[in-house]
Amino acid sequence: MSPARVTAEHNPLRAPDDLRLPRIAGPCAVVLFGVTGDLARKKLLPAIYDLASRGLLPPGFSLVGFGRRDWSNEQFAQYVEESVRGHARTPFTQEVWRELADGLRFVSGSFDDDAAFDHLAQALTELDEQRGTGGNNAFYLSIPPDAFPVVCTQLQRSGLATGDTDGPHPNSWRRVVIEKPFGHDLASARELNAIVEAVFPPDAIFRIDHYLGKETVQNILALRFANQLFEPIWNSNYVDHVQITMAEDIGIGGRAGYYDGIGAARDVIQNHLLQLLALTAMEEPLSFDASHLRVEKQKVLEATRLAGPVSRATARGVYGPGWQGGEPVIGYAEEEGVSPSSTTETYAALALTVETRRWAGVPFYLRTGKRLAKRVTEIAVMFKPAPHHPFGHDATEELGGNAVVIRIQPDEGVTIRFGAKVPGTALEVRDVSMDFGYGRSFMQSSPEAYERLILDVLLGDPPLFPRHEEVESSWRILDPATTAWARSGAKPEVYPAGTWGPRSADELLARDGRFWRLP
Ligand code: BG6
Repeated sequence: MSPARVTAEHNPLRAPDDLRLPRIAGPCAVVLFGVTGDLARKKLLPAIYDLASRGLLPPGFSLVGFGRRDWSNEQFAQYVEESVRGHARTPFTQEVWRELADGLRFVSGSFDDDAAFDHLAQALTELDEQRGTGGNNAFYLSIPPDAFPVVCTQLQRSGLATGDTDGPHPNSWRRVVIEKPFGHDLASARELNAIVEAVFPPDAIFRIDHYLGKETVQNILALRFANQLFEPIWNSNYVDHVQITMAEDIGIGGRAGYYDGIGAARDVIQNHLLQLLALTAMEEPLSFDASHLRVEKQKVLEATRLAGPVSRATARGVYGPGWQGGEPVIGYAEEEGVSPSSTTETYAALALTVETRRWAGVPFYLRTGKRLAKRVTEIAVMFKPAPHHPFGHDATEELGGNAVVIRIQPDEGVTIRFGAKVPGTALEVRDVSMDFGYGRSFMQSSPEAYERLILDVLLGDPPLFPRHEEVESSWRILDPATTAWARSGAKPEVYPAGTWGPRSADELLARDGRFWRLP
C-alpha cells in the first residue's frame, strides 16, 4: 500500500485560471463620486495610489473626481496628493505620483446638474483620446444611498451607463461600484436595487463589503478548504457554538450625520458580520468562481434566523462617558450631531441559528460595538468538551473548551486553543494556545482591503462582491430585530465607554449557559 497522502480531497481554491499570477488591470478610467468624503480621502484614493505603486494599474489609468467643489484639475491633484501622502500604505515616490497625477481630472457639479454630467462624458472621451482608456469606465458611488437614484439616472441620461456600441470601442465595459449601506431594510434594499438594475446589468454592479477584501477574511476559505485538519470537525457534532466579534475602540467621531438613525446592527452586522458568518458556515464551493462561491454563501444566509424572539435573541446598547486609552471620553448622546431623542444603538448582539444539518443546534453569536475595550475582529469556533475525561475532574478543572480563533484584525492570524499537561509530577491539564501570525509567517504586510476590491472591479472579477440576493437575505435576518427595537421606542441600555458592552449582552449568552470570550 502506498503511504497515505494527507491532503484535502478537493481544493476549490485552485480555480481554472491560475489565481497565483499577478493580475494587472487593462486600460480604464475610474470616476469617483463622493470624492471629498472620509472614505475617499482615507481609503479609496490611497488604495488607488498603492495599486499604482505596486504596478497593478495600466499605463494611461485615469481618475476623475466629481463633486460640488469649484476645483481645477490642479487643485484636485493637490487634494489627492495630500490624501495619498497621509494615508497610503506604500512609500510616496515622485515617479509613481507623476504617472498617476497625469491622469487626474476634476468635474465640478451637483448630482442634479445635467450640464455637469455632459461635461463628465466629454472629459472621459478626452481621457480616452489622450491616454487610451479604451472607453472602459468604472463609476464608484461613495455617496449616501439616497443619492444613488439621481446619479444612476444621470449616468443613463448622459449615455455614460451603456457601452460604446457605435463608438470606437464597441467592446468596452461600464461598471458601477456601490458602497454600503445598501438600503436600511429589506424593502428599501429592493427598491434601491430595482433602480440600479434598471440602469446597469447585474454583472456590472459591484456591491462593496470591504471585509471581503481583507486577506484574513479570504483566509477563512483557505483554512477550511485547503486543509484536511479542520473540515471534519466543522459541524454540530463537534462545535458547541461560534462567536463573531467586531469590536472598535473608537466612537463615532464626526460621523453622526451618517450613523445616527442607522446604528451598529445596520452599519456592521447586516453586512460585515453576516458575511463572516456565511464564510464560516457555508459548504465547500465547487470552485472560487463568483457563481459557485456566492451560491454557497446565499444558502447559508437563507437558512439563518434569530435564535428566538427578539427580546431573548438580541441585545443592544449605547456608549456612555467613560475612559479610553487612559483618557476620559464623552458618551454617544454628547457627540456632535446626535439627535437628543436618538434611540440609535452603538452596540448590538444577536444569537442566530443556521438551520442546516451541519449546524443544527449550534448558536452563532454576533456582536459589534463602538467604544469597547479594544479594537479586535475575530471568529471563535468553540468546541464541545471531550466526551470523557480519563484524568478525572480535578485534573481538568481549569480547562476551557477547545477553540479555533480566526483573528481578522488587528493581530492577523489564527489561534488554536487546547489542553496540555502542566509540567510536574501531578497530572493537571490547562489551556494553551498555538499561534499563527501573518506578519511572522509571511514577512510582508497585507494589502488593504480596498486595494484588492478596486483592482477586482477593474478586472471585472466578482467573487468578493456580494450579490443582491445576499444583501436581501441579510436584511431579512436583521429586520425583525430592528423593527422590534424601533417599535419599542426605548433607548438602548447605556454601557460605559471602554468596557465590553451592555449587561444585556452578557445575559444573552448566560441564558444559554455560555459567556463571551475576552479577545
Ligand atoms: C465600516 C463601518 O463599514 O467599517 C464603520 O461603517 C466601521 O462604522 C468600519 O468603523 C470598520 O472597518 P475596519 O476595516 O476598520 O474594521
